[in-house]
Amino acid sequence: MKSKQIAAERAVELIKDGMTVGLGTGSTAYWAIQKIGELVKGGLSVQAVATSDKSEQLARQLEIPIIAFTDIDELDLTIDGADELDPDLNLIKGGGGALFREKIVASASRELVIIADESKAVEHLGAFPLPVEIARFGAEMTMRRLRKLGCTLRLRGAGDMPFVTDNGNYIADCSFASIEDPGTLHDRINRIVGVVENGLFIGMANQAVIGYENGTVKLLKRSSNQI
Ligand code: 5RP
Repeated sequence: MKSKQIAAERAVELIKDGMTVGLGTGSTAYWAIQKIGELVKGGLSVQAVATSDKSEQLARQLEIPIIAFTDIDELDLTIDGADELDPDLNLIKGGGGALFREKIVASASRELVIIADESKAVEHLGAFPLPVEIARFGAEMTMRRLRKLGCTLRLRGAGDMPFVTDNGNYIADCSFASIEDPGTLHDRINRIVGVVENGLFIGMANQAVIGYENGTVKLLKRSSNQI
């Protein structure tokens, strides 16, 4: 808990008055939204876009001004969590099922800052099953095609029913064990008709703030895009 909170609060220090900010989803992003809410109460002026209904609800409770994604061309900064990040800052996201909105918001952001506890930093992506958002229509066929890429796959459940995303779709959790070439896998998955988006974020994160239980943080920057 502590490591997530300190990573989140350090990343929030990057927010400047007047910025448009993307709000991530998950238990780490929760702390970032809480901190932004505190700063807004103290006079910080930002406009925010949320990556899930849950984050939007929290932001509204904290009186963070929310704008419609359709009303903007670009965001200054998005702060979001991750399920895994490798040394090149390639990511697996979607553990909370918000990967599509997270990716489209990240793609519209000048800067994507990932916040995570130390358990999320890995040498190779893939121990965490890759979430893939798929349309409900033809889901069985889409899942058969995903399995042909070499994964074991589980349709995500919510009680006795399939989990349904904020966009009305399903999530297939695909275990590849170790992902040697994330970029190629990303493209092969997204070529399958019925796939809405997958949780591999390749070359999107600019920096990451990793929090440790001892209260320290480590900052990682993507080498191809030093800032
Ligand atoms: C949600 C996500 C989250 O950012 C990811 O699952 C990490 O969550 P947490 O901060 O709770 O560990 O991608 O779709």
